Amino acid sequence: MTDAAGSDLRILLDSRGIESTVERVAADVSADHNDGVVLVGVLRGSVPFLADLARAMSIRVRIDFLSITPYSPGTGRVRLLKDLDIDVTGRDVVMVEDIVDTGLTSEFLSAQLNRRNPRRLSVCTFVDRPVRRAAPVRPDYVGIGIPEEFVIGYGLDYEGRYRNLPMLAAANPAVLKENPDAHIAALYRF
Ligand code: PRP
Repeated sequence: MTDAAGSDLRILLDSRGIESTVERVAADVSADHNDGVVLVGVLRGSVPFLADLARAMSIRVRIDFLSITPYSPGTGRVRLLKDLDIDVTGRDVVMVEDIVDTGLTSEFLSAQLNRRNPRRLSVCTFVDRPVRRAAPVRPDYVGIGIPEEFVIGYGLDYEGRYRNLPMLAAANPAVLKENPDAHIAALYRF
């Protein structure tokens, strides 16, 4: 697909591809958690995936969210902006991410969650991009694995844009840096 800026966008998953991917992941999570789960979404990118995942699951689901300051590998300083409201002690918890990239966010939040003594903690991500992994994180449930490419849509943003696109697309970050709105006109036709 070529947009007004003349730069290519490659659709990795259209809305039907997203739907079938979510159904597969939801079936896997459901099969592993007969007693139900607490889905813990990591704000903000996980919201579209978590909403679809919860509705596609066939077990009891409770929903909560965590939010942290952006991870800065230079300082290593991260703090919780929003903690859990639900007591997860003795419960099966599935942390839900839009993307696991370096893995630093998942590593930090897994440690936070494990301190609450869940019965079991798993990591579920819509996109897994292992090429830049800096922490020993292996997500338990993965929607799609991708190589080193920049992706937008279905929760994934560029400077706050594109999260609500009902597709996952590979974009050129150099084009977006030049014009953050470069892909909007073409994408919103779908
Ligand atoms: C993104 C994404 C994950 C995290 C993954 O969050 O939603 O939480 O980065 O990256 P990592 O594996 O390298 O740690 P971001 O800080 O961009 O916030 P957002 O969800 O609000 O977009």
